[in-house]
Amino acid sequence: MKLVDAHNLTKTYASGTGTLTALDAVNFSIGAGEFVAIMGPSGSGKTTLMNLVGLLDRPSGGRLILEGEDVTGLSPDRQAGVRNARIGFIFQSYNLLPRSSAIENVELPLVYAGMQRRERRELARRFLSIIGLSGRMDHLPAMLSGGEQQRVAIARAVVNNPALILADEPTGALDSTTGRTVLAIFQKLNTLGKSVLMVTHDEAVARHASRILRIQDGRIVSDAAVEDRIFARDAQREAAGAVS
Ligand SMILES: Nc1ncnc2c1ncn2[C@@H]1O[C@H](COP(=O)(O)OP(=O)(O)O)[C@@H](O)[C@H]1O
Ligand SMILES: [Mg+2]
Repeated sequence: MKLVDAHNLTKTYASGTGTLTALDAVNFSIGAGEFVAIMGPSGSGKTTLMNLVGLLDRPSGGRLILEGEDVTGLSPDRQAGVRNARIGFIFQSYNLLPRSSAIENVELPLVYAGMQRRERRELARRFLSIIGLSGRMDHLPAMLSGGEQQRVAIARAVVNNPALILADEPTGALDSTTGRTVLAIFQKLNTLGKSVLMVTHDEAVARHASRILRIQDGRIVSDAAVEDRIFARDAQREAAGAVS
């Protein structure tokens, strides 16, 4: 069974006089444990695709099947339930709560999941330490570098053990070393069995995935395995390990 199955997935927006077709009846599936990069020019429909797969937006046509369940017609409440339980989001702009500490940000999905305070503290602490931020748990986002904020966002996205991680240009705002660290973390999560779907406009970043979907004008124009895959080293973890 596929993790994601999209059948003729379509999204149109009202635009001025007519309608704009942002996604035009696309078909694709993502298996458990795949790492898929989505590439395409600006305005080609990448974010629209991610928002549909992540149940942040509803398709205008077609069907979306997650783990064998047709989620297209679910009520907003049921969709939110599926989203919280099975999907982790990582955005280019981190989207952390500015008045909450790193650990409180990571705990948030566990609050929604109804986990008790002590248990969720412990779990959030463990994830922040895995991701190399043990010393930063009580910092507010503004006191963290961009790369550290992105790592908090990743810990928050995966703390709930989702089957699918969606990342929209996760390295776009980072310097290349920090970007490599983020890619190393995704590859690590991927070897642990998570599926990753990542939007990027950078060919070198995309080559960290196992497969690349290319979209243009709302259509998939190519879907191919990566022949010369790059495996990233987590430079910051290594540096932290060397001093501790
Ligand atoms: N909320 C919206 N309302 C109207 N048009 C939109 C909206 N979101 C995206 N679009 C349009 O849909 C197309 C695809 O956008 P998007 O998915 O954001 O592309 P990408 O992420 O590849 O840059 C673009 O033409 C964009 O202007
Ligand atoms: Mg986009």
